[in-house]
Amino acid sequence: MRNKGLTEEELFSFLSSKRGEDTGHEHILSSMCTVPHPIAARAHGLFLETNLGDPGLFQGTASLEALLIGVLADLYHHPAACGYATSGGTESNIQALRLAKSRTQYRDANVVVPESAHFSFKKACDILCLDMRVIPLDDQFRLDIGKVDDAIDDHTCCLVGIAGTTEYGMVDPIPGLGAIAGERDIFFHVDAAFGGMVLPFLEETIPFDFAVKGVSSIAVDPHKMGMSTIPSGCLLLRDPGLICATSVDTPYLTVKQEFTLSGTRPGAPVVAALAVLEYLGREGMAAIVEGCMKNTRRLIAGMESYGIPRVVTPDVNVATFRTDITIPPPWQVSRTRQGHLRIVCMPHVHKSIIEAFLQDIGDYYA
Ligand SMILES: Cc1ncc(COP(=O)(O)O)c(C=O)c1O
Repeated sequence: MRNKGLTEEELFSFLSSKRGEDTGHEHILSSMCTVPHPIAARAHGLFLETNLGDPGLFQGTASLEALLIGVLADLYHHPAACGYATSGGTESNIQALRLAKSRTQYRDANVVVPESAHFSFKKACDILCLDMRVIPLDDQFRLDIGKVDDAIDDHTCCLVGIAGTTEYGMVDPIPGLGAIAGERDIFFHVDAAFGGMVLPFLEETIPFDFAVKGVSSIAVDPHKMGMSTIPSGCLLLRDPGLICATSVDTPYLTVKQEFTLSGTRPGAPVVAALAVLEYLGREGMAAIVEGCMKNTRRLIAGMESYGIPRVVTPDVNVATFRTDITIPPPWQVSRTRQGHLRIVCMPHVHKSIIEAFLQDIGDYYA
């Protein structure tokens, strides 16, 4: 640390130069985050110093968190659902497994997840000392439901389904999994970190939420397709009675107990998430989601016109291709664990960006 601080000008010139080293969003085709909606940025700025970790001090902000959970509970067909804001899918998944574990008395409990599960489940199982059992996928890269029964036993505390997989954009057979979980009284967590802000706004109904019997909890990330500021996730629970299962005493706060994982929690991105949903409404969200799906279809058609085939037809806006071509800079794309080219058509990936990308691929390889 310097003895004498920099001037504001010196400091911001340094910070701006570093910001300039970041990849511009016009070339980021690999991320599930996006440029925040201007409404989110504005709302965020109003709540910079708010701390949801001590809700009694920030009652207005806390009431907005409750409103956000209420909006999501309605959207997910269970207005009585409860929940809270997290830092994102990782934290929501950890907390869901923590809740699931609290329902079992077994020390060697296990969790059954699809092979497509996000790596946050590995972290959650490590932290919670849970055995992670992995179910293979079918030829459409969805969990193979025929393999679930064999993996489950009396020590299974949680079954996980993914609604919008990170790598292939597929939705697992949630109703089938819900039925299995219901029959066996197993906690069933749906990781809709990505799809939770896409699926409710599609024309086609793909069941994934509390309307499906047996779904116990849902993770959704407004900082992904909800265009909120980072970090913004939410965990929702069907049974409000369960939320206290992770409570600890908090003697020196304005509340006596806390059930969240994080202590200090930023109010700003939570309010930003609510602001986007209130501002856009269902129609606005549906228009944005439709734009992303249209761009995904256009990208797939364009790549296939060059002889580069899709891996699957995705349920949400993630396109994957069977090719090992090197994508020229400055484009930032990613590869799945199986080596497929993966592109996420987020709201910042406008039609013109898809066309420019296709043009470059055409110039290089066609
Ligand atoms: C399906 C899914 N779950 C969980 C996560 C983890 O979310 P985060 O990085 O916000 O913790 C991701 C991230 O891409 C995801 O796609």
